[in-house]
Amino acid sequence: MVKAIFISVRTGSSRLPNKSILKIKGKHTIEYVIDSVKKSKYADKIVLCTTLKSEDDILYDIAKKNGIDVFRGSEHDKLDRWWWTLLTFQAIESVVTVDGDDLFYDHKLADLCFEQLEDSDFVNGQGLYNDTYGFKDDFLEKVMKAKKDQIIEPHEIVNFLKNKDFKVSHLTDVPHYFKKQNIRMTLDYQEDFDFFKNVIENLNDNFTFKDVLNYLLMNESVVDINYFREEEWKKNQLGVDKGWRFRGNETDYLTKTLDSGFSAGEDGTMVERVERLFSKKHNQKYAIGFNSGTSTLHAALNAFGVGVGDEVIVPALTPAMCGYSIWQTGAVPVFCDVREDTFLMDCEDVENKITHKTKAIMAVHIYGLMCDMDSIMNIADKYGLYVLEDCAQCFLAKDNNGDISGTVGHIGSWSFENSKHLSCGDGGIVTTNDEKLAKSMRQFGGVGFKNLTASSGKVRISRDKFQDPNWKRHNVMAYNYRMPELCGAVALAQTERMEEFCDKRIEAGNSYLKTILDSNTDLLKPQKSPGGFVNSYYTFGALFNGEKYGIEWQTFRKKYIEFGGDGIYAAWKTQNQEPCFKDNKIGWGDVPIAEKLQKNLMQFTTNQKDENEIKVQVNALKKTLKYFNK
Ligand SMILES: Cc1ncc(COP(=O)(O)O)c(C=O)c1O
Repeated sequence: MVKAIFISVRTGSSRLPNKSILKIKGKHTIEYVIDSVKKSKYADKIVLCTTLKSEDDILYDIAKKNGIDVFRGSEHDKLDRWWWTLLTFQAIESVVTVDGDDLFYDHKLADLCFEQLEDSDFVNGQGLYNDTYGFKDDFLEKVMKAKKDQIIEPHEIVNFLKNKDFKVSHLTDVPHYFKKQNIRMTLDYQEDFDFFKNVIENLNDNFTFKDVLNYLLMNESVVDINYFREEEWKKNQLGVDKGWRFRGNETDYLTKTLDSGFSAGEDGTMVERVERLFSKKHNQKYAIGFNSGTSTLHAALNAFGVGVGDEVIVPALTPAMCGYSIWQTGAVPVFCDVREDTFLMDCEDVENKITHKTKAIMAVHIYGLMCDMDSIMNIADKYGLYVLEDCAQCFLAKDNNGDISGTVGHIGSWSFENSKHLSCGDGGIVTTNDEKLAKSMRQFGGVGFKNLTASSGKVRISRDKFQDPNWKRHNVMAYNYRMPELCGAVALAQTERMEEFCDKRIEAGNSYLKTILDSNTDLLKPQKSPGGFVNSYYTFGALFNGEKYGIEWQTFRKKYIEFGGDGIYAAWKTQNQEPCFKDNKIGWGDVPIAEKLQKNLMQFTTNQKDENEIKVQVNALKKTLKYFNK
């Protein structure tokens, strides 16, 4: 019975084209793997398993030249390729697989696998410098039968066959030096090639794995050539799960909505349910669903009676949608400056900018931190103004009184746009304790039906009365800003898990904060949460101090990404600098601090799924700070 080694290899790779046929010291990279496995004391046969693509023709020639066999099959399905290799070369009883990217593969691992296959069906040699697997022919046959058309990766086999009756074992008695430490030994990127080249060119032709490790021990900096690629590679291997936020009741509620033909269930419509739950969680009498966090602002200002001839004070450092909503009412946005430490509206400047036209203050809680609501409410009381809290970026944050964001001013407004703590794609919601304001907002966004009430988005009058040619429906001019039922279904499921989403963001934010504090760096100054405030970290905002050291904003960002970080986001231009306001001469107010901060702000992502994903970001930040060492 034949024992075989299958080497899986392709020349194509978008990251490093022709990677298996590049040459080091006159040898193709794949030939290093072939030469190593040829030393196996058990293998009777070595097969190069590659694809039918024409670019892999050259691998056929290389195999023949090196006196080994070739099989060409599926481009995408590795297991399928192994299976057809087994069928093609009959009498193979046990197989050990080797990855063609692992240039330093040591034949001793293959031999250990063969030995262990004596009383195992599958040997899992994952977690070593070079992943390797061993299996018996009938084991693979069963896997193939079970998987049908599904593509599964070798490392998924064990989970896939969890309840089947097989003898599965982990590779044991592996010498400690094969266990993975902080060295990257897989050929995926140009830097990996540079790494292999450096090592191979400095060793004798018949080097062993131990020689490689010794060389690296003596030349630690060689590891830096490619190790920074590791996180990126891992992320790529795992695949990014973009749907993790929507695995609560979202699908169930969507299905119910469709199955019921959009009619209300026993608990009301989805929008009614999310309104009820949201108001309950904020201890507010009324909540009204909208189609965005911009239409909410417009409706709220309208409810305050803001219109032509009025002014509304709004921080300059916030997205343009805030200023748009003021302009939409016919009023003028007055831009106020922000504080250098919290990046939030500066209450002294708010008071300076009050005129006889001022009707309201829009307090925008950016990045997840609440403005100084005590001072804002005092100013509002003093001058008889309304206060709208824009919490688009601030779910469940708290101030030093323990008040939740959105519950201190006259109206709180939130956005469910996709980047926010909670999302239904696009959507928004407002809350208030004031019945008049609630009714006004409800009608303004609900096409002005006169029978809408503060608590209900349904026209609740008898059908006979309503369906009468003499019935007049609309008593105010209005918009259709209603939250669609399908969005309501998702928003409801998201609101059910609001605390969980906020906790995750807080965990991410605190991890960035700790990293910066621990590294004692002068390069980043985090947004300051005053004592007793809880920041719910829509994003982690920090001021970049690179100018002082001649390090550009983009240079830092690129390094961070190179170390595996997500892209750092830039702050929006201050509203007064955006052409829509500036060129049209809409709004007034000097804001020197906001303009200065805006150029240097960095926003780090906090939407990670779990602590492993957070670790990737934090490690990238650590490495970036260490790299610049300031
Ligand atoms: C502070 C702030 N206000 C308002 C909005 C507008 O929300 P939406 O995109 O849902 O219209 C946003 C959205 O990015 C925001 O960040």
